[in-house]
Amino acid sequence: MEPWTIILPAAGSGLRFGGDVPKQYRHLRGISLISYSVRTALSMPEVGHVIIAINPEHRAMCEHALSSQHLQSDRVLIVEGGTERQQSIHAALQHAVISDSSLVFVHDAVRPFATFDLYRRVGLAAMEHGAAIPGLAVRDTIKSVFDGGIVEATLPRSVLRAVQTPQCFRAGVLRSAYAHAAELGITATDDASLVEAIGIPVLCVEGDERNIKVTTPLDLLIAEAFLAV
Ligand code: CTP
Ligand code: MG
Repeated sequence: MEPWTIILPAAGSGLRFGGDVPKQYRHLRGISLISYSVRTALSMPEVGHVIIAINPEHRAMCEHALSSQHLQSDRVLIVEGGTERQQSIHAALQHAVISDSSLVFVHDAVRPFATFDLYRRVGLAAMEHGAAIPGLAVRDTIKSVFDGGIVEATLPRSVLRAVQTPQCFRAGVLRSAYAHAAELGITATDDASLVEAIGIPVLCVEGDERNIKVTTPLDLLIAEAFLAV
């Protein structure tokens, strides 16, 4: 089996979280969020390289976060991200360590609780199907709402899934999807959408309720609560 590559987009500025330090470098029990993600990625024997896309202005913060947790390694590669998440991943995908037939996972650096089990579940599904993502049934009723606040429609809850990362793809599939998106100017909030756009089926497997994305300060409190139990 070819080694897996894990791409960790970490070039964002965390506008919704706010504050001076971008959220991926904020601490949870004294350890930066990004270090949790890198540590889990490196702990998996299947993983060859971890490619982190960063804002070059954050390089010193990133290197400090890694070195303070002894996570600097020749398996960890740092590339320059872009102004949108999609551009950051596109940049990482160009790296020569990734062969087209290998599996690539894209995982938000700010989801500190992705487990080995979750990676395996998504990875095994992608090995078989070419593309797989974790998703959870939604609890709330979801409606689409017009600009002025008037409800347009109520979506059928039973078919809806709130999707997470890690999302996993055969590298050649993901590269084709990104090339196609760049050519047509398609933008999306997750990687699977770009793969769907080239007509490749994406399998949705069970996600993990603890695998939250730290988006606002409240999420960091929730993450702290998870560590307390
Ligand atoms: N990301 C990235 N490059 C960007 C924007 C986002 O690599 N130009 C990364 C973030 O660093 C994060 C992940 O994509 O690890 C998920 O994005 P999100 O939660 O939206 O983070 P931010 O974009 O930083 O936050 P916000 O949207 O609130 O500004
Ligand atoms: Mg964002």
